[in-house]
Amino acid sequence: MDNLILVGFSCSGKTTLGRNVARRLRLNFVDTDRYIEEMCGRTIPEIFREDGEVAFRALESEAIDRIMSEQNQVVSTGGGAFVNLDNRAKLRTGNLVIHLQVRPETVVDRLRNSKSGRPRPLLDSTDPLERVMELMAERKEAYSAAHVTIGVDDRSRYELVGELRRRWLAWQRAHRPTATPTPARGGRPPLRGSLASVKHNLRRSSLRYGAAAAAARRAA
Ligand code: S3P
Repeated sequence: MDNLILVGFSCSGKTTLGRNVARRLRLNFVDTDRYIEEMCGRTIPEIFREDGEVAFRALESEAIDRIMSEQNQVVSTGGGAFVNLDNRAKLRTGNLVIHLQVRPETVVDRLRNSKSGRPRPLLDSTDPLERVMELMAERKEAYSAAHVTIGVDDRSRYELVGELRRRWLAWQRAHRPTATPTPARGGRPPLRGSLASVKHNLRRSSLRYGAAAAAARRAA
């Protein structure tokens, strides 16, 4: 509950943007793939190679279960995590899910130029563009179940982190009006968040006062 979840295709920037926005919001950052690797002491390609995709998906669901029992985190998910209906329901419930939408050509470019060189077993193909397009088409419907979609092509990291941060703060104001607002850099809580909480508390206490006054009138 109360997590900011990033979903989307490989190389859409989930991990980089997630880590950056978590830092700005002072929230914990969790990456489901890294979590799985720590959980079983093996890398994702090793899990795929030794046990296959079905075993990987089971570990992924287990990791999502565990991660979703915590709150106030930014969570970046593996590209296929949102396809499974149970995972999707768990990720959507009480959290803000943002889909980072990326063009297939950008994915292929980024795969070629990836500094981390992290292999993506599912994208290992003689025609990577065709493979990416095929997998993206299969996942289109799943990704459309995110609460918000943001296109990442041709936008700077700075701009995207700013947009993710704004979306999170707006979601918090709308869904958790009494929650302690995330402190802005420099320590002070954002003014609009506190104003919303004050208004909400005033509304609640005037409702309570109204009910008490009505009960007193009835008793008199
Ligand atoms: C996968 C994407 C990978 C990783 C695994 C499967 C997928 O994560 O979870 O290789 O099914 O698309 P990234 O989205 O971080 O590449």
